[in-house]
Amino acid sequence: MTDALTTLLAKGQAMTRDDLRTLLGLTDPQDRKRLYDAAYEVKARTVGRVDYYRGLLEFSNRCIKNCKYCGIRRDNEEVERFDTDRKDLLAMAKWAYDNRYGSLTLQSGERQDEEFIAYVEGLLRDIKELSHGELGITLCVGEQTEETYRRWFQAGAHRYLLRIETSNPALYATLHPQDGHHEWSVRKACLEALHRIGYQVGTGVMIGLPGQTLDDLAGDILFYRDMDIDMIGMGPYVVHHNTPIGKEVVAAGGNTEAAQQERFILGLNMIAVTRLFLPDRNIAATTALQALNPLGRELGLKAGANILMPIVTLPKFRPDYLLYDNKPCVEDSPDQCRNCLAGRVASVGDTVGFGKWGDSLHYFKEHPEQERR
Ligand code: 5AD
Ligand code: SF4
Repeated sequence: MTDALTTLLAKGQAMTRDDLRTLLGLTDPQDRKRLYDAAYEVKARTVGRVDYYRGLLEFSNRCIKNCKYCGIRRDNEEVERFDTDRKDLLAMAKWAYDNRYGSLTLQSGERQDEEFIAYVEGLLRDIKELSHGELGITLCVGEQTEETYRRWFQAGAHRYLLRIETSNPALYATLHPQDGHHEWSVRKACLEALHRIGYQVGTGVMIGLPGQTLDDLAGDILFYRDMDIDMIGMGPYVVHHNTPIGKEVVAAGGNTEAAQQERFILGLNMIAVTRLFLPDRNIAATTALQALNPLGRELGLKAGANILMPIVTLPKFRPDYLLYDNKPCVEDSPDQCRNCLAGRVASVGDTVGFGKWGDSLHYFKEHPEQERR
């Protein structure tokens, strides 16, 4: 495999679907090291050895959706539902600004009612104002109408994250209730609407889902390319004990340490192969990586990721925002998360791009008229 691997790693953007699948399936530690080193080298050469923070503010766990893998799904009655007070939200936004985070990501469960839409709109204007227009704002609040996305864009959001979860519609159908409200085609149409409006668009998938193949994962990377995705946030699937999929996986013996390790490795392989194939995108080392391995996020950065999302959520609400079991950082404060991640970045030999937006290079190739910050 050695020579074949050298050839494959050098193919970069010319890789075929078969090539992507072959690299994604590497399991031998030495082969994997070569994959990660090659991806890190591409990262260093294209986006640089600078990692950017996106403070993650999980402001409400109310959700109208019932995704079968997620711990805050509507039917999980073990969860106490919360909303963050506006003044606390603005205080956390100010904290992120004062700490020179490039941008803030506002995340919540999905709601589509006018009260919610207007609330987010007002919040965006207030955050823009308190940071003198400097704090970049990313939204991650689910599927909405194009009109809503447009209102929020006009109020100051410039990036939007909406994971496609998997590029395979048949697999998507097994992960979501078939009630007419969880349609893959709608999610894809949302990504297209976001692009039309002018957002920098982020998406991602879960890795190691039951029934998912290496070919599906290769398809996910091609989906990022074909949909012109600027920001990629993906991580291993992690069991949540009180969800339909979590219970199925546990019952089938699919949550052993070995199985978790396999999903973790697939997660790293996805980051590295995506960096080789799509060198100019922003790619996150997600918290889910660290749920499966204490060094998960550092290893993600070393495999080619360049974005970290320190949690800025109020400590009192963190235990109620558990999408999966063993979520790290639940006991920590925003200050602790800031310092802890700075240590992780330094341990890799990178630096943090404080005070910069760190926009995706890819977006600016598509929009040369815009100023990159
Ligand atoms: N494991 C990993 N990721 C999950 N998400 C939701 N539940 C899980 C889980 N059990 C991810 C989904 C969603 C994002 C907000 O969190 O990809 O889009
Ligand atoms: Fe709601 Fe998102 Fe969880 Fe689905 S994944 S239940 S939309 S919070």
